[in-house]
Amino acid sequence: MRIDIITIFPKMFAAVLNESIIKRAQNKGKVKIYVHNLRDYTLDKHKKVDDRPFGGGSGMVMQPEPIFRAVEDLKSKASKSKTRVILLSPQGKRLNQKIAKSLAKSQHLILICGHYEGIDERIRQYLVDEEVSIGDYVLTGGELPAMVMADCIVRLIPGVLGDRNSLNFESFAGNLLEYPQYTRPANYRKMKVPAILLSGNHQKIADWRKKEALKITKKKRPDLWRMKWTR
Ligand code: ADE
Repeated sequence: MRIDIITIFPKMFAAVLNESIIKRAQNKGKVKIYVHNLRDYTLDKHKKVDDRPFGGGSGMVMQPEPIFRAVEDLKSKASKSKTRVILLSPQGKRLNQKIAKSLAKSQHLILICGHYEGIDERIRQYLVDEEVSIGDYVLTGGELPAMVMADCIVRLIPGVLGDRNSLNFESFAGNLLEYPQYTRPANYRKMKVPAILLSGNHQKIADWRKKEALKITKKKRPDLWRMKWTR
C-alpha cells in the first residue's frame, strides 16, 4: 500500500510515522508513506495556498490550484494503482473500524489535510472520493486526523501485526469491546486476578472472556451491543 499525505505542516508527521508499529510496517515494506508539503505545488512565488472567501466572511479558504496539482501529480506517481482520494474534515463520515478495514484493502490512498475556515468546494466536488471525520469535534486541521487514520489502517494490513489473534479478539473486531486483561502479579495489594484465568482451563477461559466482552459492551457501548443482535 502507498499512502500520500498532503499538508501545510509536514513536520507534524515525523514523530508519529517514525515510531512503533507504523515505522516497522514501513521498514518491512508493507506500506510506503510520503508526506508532501502543499506549498511545493503552488505556482506563485509566495507559495500561497489560501485566499479570502468569495461573497465575504471571516477566515481564509484553501485554494483549488495547489491541491488539484498535488493530487494529479501523486496519482500519476502511482498510476498503476487504484487511488482513493480522502479529505479529512469534520463534515465527513465518521471513521470507524468498518471504514478502516475497507480502506486497508486499498492500493493507494491520498489524504488531504484541510485547514482554515474550509476548502474550496470544487475540491470536494471534483477531486475527492471520500470525506472522513475522526469524530464530532473540531480540530485545528486535518493533520492529526490523517495520522489517526494512517495508524488505524496500517495496523490492519496483513503481516503488520505479528500475532493474528490480536486482530481477531481486539475491541470492535466482532462489534464487541475487549474483555478485561490481567498480568502478573496475580495478587497486587490484595487486588486479585479472577481465579478462572489462573485455572489453565482454556475452554472455560474462552467462555468467560466472551461473557465479559458482552457484559462490558452492553454497559459501556449499548449502541454496539444492540448491533450485535440486530445484524
Ligand atoms: N479537521 C478538523 N476537525 C476534524 C475532524 N474532527 N475530523 C477530521 N478532520 C478534521
